[in-house]
Amino acid sequence: MMNSLTDRDRRVIWHPYTQHKGYLPPIPVVKGKDSLLFDDQGKSYIDAVSSWWVTIHGHANPYIAEKLYRQALQLEQVIFTGFTHEPAVTLAERLLPLLPGPFSRVFFSDNGSTAVEVAIKMAIQFWSNQDRPRRKVLAFRHSYHGDTFGAMSVSERSVFTDPFRDYLFEPVFIDTPTRGNIGGLRRFLLDNGRDIAGFIYEPLLQGAGGMRMYEAGLLDELLDAASEQGVLCIADEVMTGFGRTGRLFAGEYLRHKADIICLSKGLTGGTMALGVTATTERLFEAFLSDDKRKTLFHGHSFTANPLACTAALASLDLVERPEFLANIRRITERHQAFLGTLHSYPIAGNPRALGTVLAFEIITGRDEYINAIAPAITRDALAQGIYLRPLGNTVYFMPPYCTTEKEMDQVYDFLVHCLIKYSARPVTS
Ligand SMILES: Cc1ncc(COP(=O)(O)O)c(C=O)c1O
Repeated sequence: MMNSLTDRDRRVIWHPYTQHKGYLPPIPVVKGKDSLLFDDQGKSYIDAVSSWWVTIHGHANPYIAEKLYRQALQLEQVIFTGFTHEPAVTLAERLLPLLPGPFSRVFFSDNGSTAVEVAIKMAIQFWSNQDRPRRKVLAFRHSYHGDTFGAMSVSERSVFTDPFRDYLFEPVFIDTPTRGNIGGLRRFLLDNGRDIAGFIYEPLLQGAGGMRMYEAGLLDELLDAASEQGVLCIADEVMTGFGRTGRLFAGEYLRHKADIICLSKGLTGGTMALGVTATTERLFEAFLSDDKRKTLFHGHSFTANPLACTAALASLDLVERPEFLANIRRITERHQAFLGTLHSYPIAGNPRALGTVLAFEIITGRDEYINAIAPAITRDALAQGIYLRPLGNTVYFMPPYCTTEKEMDQVYDFLVHCLIKYSARPVTS
């Protein structure tokens, strides 16, 4: 069929994170329902990665769709300087009390990367507005904060950022805290903290850097040390937010409260693009001035888009239903139980789980992002009606919270099938 959607796509589309030379044709998806995606042949796929970690209540949620429809008939978009609207204000009012810390202001943008850009700019300008500029930003090794230039700058240097290396600003990278290095990290902050504007971190779980997990107590110690030196703490909860780690926000595991928090992905239930950078009043006040140059000069055309805010409000309604946390608990318990199975396969490296995220490495001797095992697993999974997208040899399972017991079992069975297959026949690349 020369005019199939796939052929038309091939002629005009450039896909994200896709090497178009020799790649498999994309699957035309015509419908989504709960945790399932349906292709144009009627075949279903369990969305085991929540469509890049955004889908929390399931696809095509009728409650969110209905609210969107009504809002679209009322007000679809308006410039957000000089104007305001009900969905934005109500969303800020409802979101702020849910956040893990004394946040009092919401700045809207479009996605996770822009939420991070805004946070970095706020932290740097906070200091320059007070004529006490600080020159450095602190970030973790193996971090990932997005694909725009500021977000790339504070992310681990990798195959993602290699071509841009000379164009990125240099943060100070430190290791995530362990019992062995925490003393050294605290001393480092004591000696250098006064020149650090902000410290950006993915609390407890580094996502794209390989689903790496680290301890809340140690992060608290590090954040305390940073705050003692006045460093602004920026929690990037773009991925961990809205229940992924078992609680509504990863920050709920922490004693230390951040100064800035970045949200996106699950914010709208995964329905619309929206970013939030929330801050404390102290930070906001550093931008209040008769001197217009102290304004935060940042904004996007679709800032606080009324449809996106409406989707987020509808998602919050669903978050407040008892089944939301009950489903998260159910998936958390299933993942914990499955760790026992993973431990019985020597080829499964470092089995780990936090909340609704399960991860392990398939030990191939090549722990790199560009790795033959990732596309091989995706291909195998698709044939079984499952969508999985390993990060190099790190396999992870991060389902929408409505995923049924039967669907969970199907994915676990597939993971066991992979372990048996690769134990017997290691992949070569
Ligand atoms: C922790 C974190 N921050 C930021 C981003 C960037 O978000 P977006 O892809 O919406 O730009 C991501 C995306 O995966 C993320 O995981």
